[in-house]
Amino acid sequence: FPVDKIRNFCIIAHIDHGKSTLADRLLEMTGAIAKTEKNKQVLDKLQVERERGITVKAQTASLFYSHDGQEYLLNLIDTPGHVDFSYEVSRSLSACQGVLLIIDANQGIQAQTVANFYLAFEAQLAIIPVINKIDLKNANPERVESQIEKVFDIPREECIRISAKLGTNVEAVLQAVVERIPHPGGSVDDPFKALVFDSNFDHYRGVVANIAVIGGRVKKGDKIVSAHLSKTYEVNELGLLRPEEHATQKLFAGQVGYIIAGMKDVKEAQIGDTLYCLERPVQALPGFKPAKAMVFAGMYPMDQSEHPALRSAIERLTLNDSSVTVQRDSSLALGAGWRLGFLGLLHMEVFNQRLEQEYNASVIVTSPTVPYKAILSSAKLIKSRRGVQKSVVYIDEQRVMLKYLFPLNEIVVDFYDLLKSMSSGYASFDYENADYQAADLIKMDILLNGRPVEELTTIVHRERAYSMGKAMCERLKESIPRQMFEIAIQAAIGSKVIARETVKAFRKNVLAKCYGGDITRKMKLLKRQAEGKKKMRRIGNIDVPKDAFISVLKRK
Ligand code: GTP
Repeated sequence: FPVDKIRNFCIIAHIDHGKSTLADRLLEMTGAIAKTEKNKQVLDKLQVERERGITVKAQTASLFYSHDGQEYLLNLIDTPGHVDFSYEVSRSLSACQGVLLIIDANQGIQAQTVANFYLAFEAQLAIIPVINKIDLKNANPERVESQIEKVFDIPREECIRISAKLGTNVEAVLQAVVERIPHPGGSVDDPFKALVFDSNFDHYRGVVANIAVIGGRVKKGDKIVSAHLSKTYEVNELGLLRPEEHATQKLFAGQVGYIIAGMKDVKEAQIGDTLYCLERPVQALPGFKPAKAMVFAGMYPMDQSEHPALRSAIERLTLNDSSVTVQRDSSLALGAGWRLGFLGLLHMEVFNQRLEQEYNASVIVTSPTVPYKAILSSAKLIKSRRGVQKSVVYIDEQRVMLKYLFPLNEIVVDFYDLLKSMSSGYASFDYENADYQAADLIKMDILLNGRPVEELTTIVHRERAYSMGKAMCERLKESIPRQMFEIAIQAAIGSKVIARETVKAFRKNVLAKCYGGDITRKMKLLKRQAEGKKKMRRIGNIDVPKDAFISVLKRK
């Protein structure tokens, strides 16, 4: 394919505005996949993605499309929509020259629409606004076009109205990709240079890196170097993604595809890194930035005998996700485990769910925390407000964009859920890191029958300690079942107890109702009780359900 017949683009949108549905339509129309119900959201591969209806890992597909008697190669890069994964969006943007910015015709511009727009705008990409779901009864494309004009300064004439679900006007999207997005440039005669924009680990073949070839060409047997680590590899296999791998002899400037070159760890194929030919070294591409963990939590096996299995499961999962950081840790109550760092709470939940679903691992996750920087001086005496307003912009008569400075720990656990329910789903939210700020923080312990549970120790703002302590005790009381003795749940700052709840003693005789000798029913009840116990964690002599460790933090 000549470079001027290639288009590299991705689809960006607020969550649920219809990226995956549009991607499916584009794949069908270009013949990459058959038109059946089974192919719904082929780009959402992981089980968690299908269950939660969110995209976690970006996927790529090369599409062939003819327009005005010419054949084009369109490289589509699917991106996730949730705030936690915005690093994936920026990395895939760097392999593109243009984006489809999807906006729901009913909901209009939302927080991630704005965040994603600016990522594309800063990368100087061609932006094609696509208004989706025009088939909905309450669709109001005129209003959305006015918002786009006002907020993004894009003329309304440039908007394309579609229904990805029904396929209405989707052809116009393909035409706009060809007509409005510039080709990637570069020449096959230049020295080989490629951008790594994603990578994953395959047990048989090692690291599979997704690359965009910026210049030159590469073929099997070539010796290549990764700029970040200056390591040399030999190319074993390469090809296009359609979306499944389709091996080819060579990859040329302008193409997007995969490459396998004997790398053993995804950290060797870091996102944003440059690959070049050993004999013709080039300068690395700018903008390489490793992903940064913002939320930390402890992970422990339910039972120490499961420690080796959990270790290998965590190792395997992190092989595929270089943004998770892992450190060994141990706790008096829970034994040996790890401290893991994630991009956000959803990222953490998805990781946990994958451990359970794909590796059958049973884990205890401790309360998530955010990084703090402790400076021991009187400047902490300074009272800080928890949320500081930065700006207010009216998008239209019905919508306003508010910018606030917030401490990360205030938004990490349940802010998003709370905002959604308070606004009946109307408000949307996105964030970026604004660095460390001084605050008046103290350490609060939770005690069960006088014994501190270190996994539940939290750092709280002094003004919040009393209400947080009370809420945590109440939630724990709800989640700890009655046991054969009384359990005192206390929140304490140093030696001072600030809240207390009691779980009364109770003896649960599940067999009491089994009069007579119905042995099968007896077995069934005993089995059920054993299953209930499996989800418990023993701390001292108290059984604590493993969900308690995370649910206790969510405020009501
Ligand atoms: P994430 O990958 O999680 O960010 O979501 P997404 O943006 O890929 O959204 P997805 O394609 O999963 O669509 C979200 C929901 O909107 C699904 O229930 C779709 O069936 C629905 N949907 C998508 N396009 C249309 C459309 O044109 N009309 C209608 N009525 N519904 C649509």
